[in-house]
Amino acid sequence: MIEFRPLTEADLPLLRVWLEREHVARWWREPIEDELGHELTGRFVIVVDGRDAGLIQTYDGEVDLLIGEEELTGRGLGPQILAQFVDDVVEADVVFAAVEEPNRRSWRAFEKAGFRHVSDVEENGLPHRLMRLDRS
Ligand SMILES: CC(C)(COP(=O)(O)OP(=O)(O)OC[C@H]1O[C@@H](n2cnc3c(N)ncnc32)[C@H](O)[C@@H]1OP(=O)(O)O)[C@@H](O)C(=O)NCCC(=O)NCCS
Repeated sequence: MIEFRPLTEADLPLLRVWLEREHVARWWREPIEDELGHELTGRFVIVVDGRDAGLIQTYDGEVDLLIGEEELTGRGLGPQILAQFVDDVVEADVVFAAVEEPNRRSWRAFEKAGFRHVSDVEENGLPHRLMRLDRS
């Protein structure tokens, strides 16, 4: 079972651990102190079968996520988490994500959750795929 619990100050040490893991740090480029200093609004801990598994966030109709527990990656959980998050939490009718081009695992997870690759954009000088989901 997948649940979303609003991120609180008490979760920040765990978030730091996740951000420092190699499989996350490779793709999550914002400096850790900036990441930890963001507003808590719109940010949720992903809970999988009662276990804290990662972070998912929505801001201005954009979504991004990380599964911080590496052994929970590569099992098809990402697409399920995204689909459920869009259904249960996100209120916008159109949802976007910008995913780094070489992060195939991530953009495939968005595709499997129903997002389409609509254009190529540059963010921080790096090529990204802009992914879009229209909610029915
Ligand atoms: C990106 C992420 C959310 C994807 O979720 P996931 O549950 O691991 O994704 P899936 O298991 O559904 O795999 C998605 C696709 O990547 C492929 N894949 C799995 N592990 C992979 C790996 N180590 N390298 C490359 N591709 C891989 C899968 O085969 C699948 O593709 P397919 O459907 O064509 O076979 C998760 O891996 C994660 O949080 N990674 C670290 C942080 C990150 O990159 N966040 C995204 C920032 S936008």
